[in-house]
Amino acid sequence: MALVTTSEIKVLEQRLEEAVQAGHAEGLDVIGYGEITIGVKLSTSHGDFACKRLVPFSSREAAERYGALIGSYVEQLEARGIDVVETETPILERPEGHVLYCVQPLLAPGTLGPAFLRNKSAEEAAPYVRRIFELIEASVTPSLAPDGQLSNWAFQGNRLRYLDVGTPFLRDQEGNQLVDFAEQTRALPAPVRVIVNRFLLRGILDAYHSTRGQAVDFLGNLIKEGLGDIFPPLVPIANEVFRLAPEITEREVRAHYKSDAQTWAFMQAARRADRWVYRNIRRKPYPYLLPPRIDRYG
Ligand SMILES: Nc1ncnc2c1ncn2[C@@H]1O[C@H](COP(=O)(O)OP(=O)(O)OP(=O)(O)O)[C@@H](O)[C@H]1O
Ligand SMILES: [Mg+2]
Repeated sequence: MALVTTSEIKVLEQRLEEAVQAGHAEGLDVIGYGEITIGVKLSTSHGDFACKRLVPFSSREAAERYGALIGSYVEQLEARGIDVVETETPILERPEGHVLYCVQPLLAPGTLGPAFLRNKSAEEAAPYVRRIFELIEASVTPSLAPDGQLSNWAFQGNRLRYLDVGTPFLRDQEGNQLVDFAEQTRALPAPVRVIVNRFLLRGILDAYHSTRGQAVDFLGNLIKEGLGDIFPPLVPIANEVFRLAPEITEREVRAHYKSDAQTWAFMQAARRADRWVYRNIRRKPYPYLLPPRIDRYG
């Protein structure tokens, strides 16, 4: 049975559209801003759902192909032992394109990785982080990769759930990306998009298909989550589980985090500048909802 009906998702899309027209997300229950997607809570008589809206696609075929890739991604992650949150991918036709949503049951806030580890010492957090590392280790291959960051996992009783399937990191035998990432970077202003597509994307994506890249990214991201205190003692666990040689160091993690934070800050600044041009020069509503300035620790 479907998680949500078409009319329920249409009502939600309408509310998002109104927020875009108004230029702010007040009145929406935003559960997460991705770098380019937005996640909103939808309450219905039959439960609460997380509805994550991807960037509109240029055609129905493109949206359907993407939905099928998400399905294949979920299957492949599960085949590697990852417990993926049930996901549906309805598509809505809108003037700006074909909008694909990732719909999932809403997980309780306290179960999400960062909240779950929030008040734990490094020692208390270690077994949970080890479980995540083991699943990353079991699933990263040249053709498959989860986005291993802590915010994509939830601890639900004894279950460790994985929730971020909106960006399927899948490659074919020749190493070609199955997802056309150029569709998703359409949310970036043109000059930035060109730079990202041409120079940055391959390197960003390669890091997901390497356990070293995953480890450094996971640990660095703890700083962004305000969990910087617990990350140094977790470095040896990463070295052990991923059998990294040479071993990664605290210094390498901090350097990675710094350059990563600069890249994303640059992209967000470019999008805010783009929004300013829309509003003040083109006098049109900016078609996306941007995250508030992100507090980055460290
Ligand atoms: N099913 C869910 N229940 C509760 N919260 C959720 C759920 N799905 C997502 N969230 C919240 O929204 C955040 C963002 O969702 P998700 O990780 O799927 O997308 P994203 O990281 O924004 O995507 P992208 O891959 O485009 O960066 C999560 O880190 C989590 O805090
Ligand atoms: Mg995520």
